[in-house]
Amino acid sequence: MTGGAGFIGSHLVDRLVERGSSVTVVDSLASGKREYLNPAARLYQLDVRSADLKRVVAEARPALVFHLAAQMSVAVSARAPMLDADININGTLNLLEAVRTLPDTTRPRVVFASSGGAVYGEPQSLPVSEQHVSRPASPYGASKCAGEVYLGTYRAVYGLEYSIMRLANVYGPRQDPHGEAGVVAIFGKAMIAGEPIRIFGDGTDERDYVYVSDVVDAFLAAGERGGPTAYNIGSGKGTSTGDMARLLARLTGYRKDPTMAPARAGDIRKIRLDVSKAGRELGWSPKVGLEEGLARTVEYLRASQASGGTFRPA
Ligand SMILES: NC(=O)c1ccc[n+]([C@@H]2O[C@H](COP(=O)([O-])OP(=O)(O)OC[C@H]3O[C@@H](n4cnc5c(N)ncnc54)[C@H](O)[C@@H]3O)[C@@H](O)[C@H]2O)c1
Repeated sequence: MTGGAGFIGSHLVDRLVERGSSVTVVDSLASGKREYLNPAARLYQLDVRSADLKRVVAEARPALVFHLAAQMSVAVSARAPMLDADININGTLNLLEAVRTLPDTTRPRVVFASSGGAVYGEPQSLPVSEQHVSRPASPYGASKCAGEVYLGTYRAVYGLEYSIMRLANVYGPRQDPHGEAGVVAIFGKAMIAGEPIRIFGDGTDERDYVYVSDVVDAFLAAGERGGPTAYNIGSGKGTSTGDMARLLARLTGYRKDPTMAPARAGDIRKIRLDVSKAGRELGWSPKVGLEEGLARTVEYLRASQASGGTFRPA
C-alpha cells in the first residue's frame, strides 16, 4: 500500500492486519505519521516518485496494491500545480511502472484513491453519478483524473487490472487538523480549543461527508470484487458548511460565530455523489450516519488534544 501512514491509509492498514494480511507500506511521511501506522505493517519510508520503488514492489510481491499516497490538498494544488502533478501523476506512473514490470502471473490489481469531490468539477446535476463528465475545477482534480486515465491505458496496453475509488469528503479520527483539507478535523479541533473558525464562501456550499470506516469497507470490497471501473464512495447526502459548523458546535459546546472569508480558488459549490453503483457492484453502502461519525470524531479529537496530539486509538 502507498500512503499507509496517512489518515485513510492507516485505518485501511489496521483492518488488513486485523484480517491477517501481511502489509507493506510505502510512505514518505510527508503528511502521514509513523505513530498512526500499525506496528505489524512493514514501512518503507520512500517517495512514490523514487527510483527505488520498483525494487520495493518486486521484493514485497503484493497480491493487491492500494495506492493512496498523494498530495491531497486542493488549495496546495492551486498554489503549486507542478508539485501536485509531480506527486500525483508522476508518482502514480512510477507505481504503475513498478507493477507492470512484475511477472505476468504475479501482477496485482491496483486500487486507486481518486476524488469524487474533485474529478467532476462543478456538477451539472445532483447527485453526481460516475457517468458525469470529468471537468476538474482544480489542478488536484486534474491530476487525479490523469491517474485514472493512465490506469485505463495501462490495462489496454499491458493488461494491468485496477479499480478506482472516487471518494467524497472523508472524515474521522487521524484526519490532519493542521492540514489544508478536512473541514471536520479543522473545525472540530478549533472548537474544542475555543479558537475562532473560518468559513470560506457563504456557508451554503455543500459537500458529501463519508466516515473513514465506511471508506475502508469500500476499499476492501473493491480489493475483493472491484471491476476495471470507477466507484463513487460517499454518503449520497449533501451537508452545507454552515450546517456542519452548527453540528460540530453542538457536539463541542462551541458558542462563537464563524468568521466568513472569500471562497477559495478551485473549491466547488455543491456536490453529492450517487453511490448506487458501489451498492450494486461491490455490495457496499455507508453504515455510519453523520451524527454518529461526528460524535466519534469529536471524542477522538478531545482525547488527542488531551494527550498532546498523537493519540492512536486501539
Ligand atoms: N480525505 C479525503 O477526504 C479524500 C477525499 C478524496 C480522495 N482522497 C484521497 O485519498 C488518499 C488518502 O488521503 P488522506 O486523506 O488519507 O491523506 P493523507 O495526507 O493523510 O495521506 C496521504 C499519505 O500519502 C503520503 N505521501 C504524500 N506524498 C507522498 C509521496 N510523494 N510519496 C510517498 N508518500 C507520500 C503522506 O505521508 C500520507 O501518509 C489520497 O490519495 C487522497 O487524494 C482523500
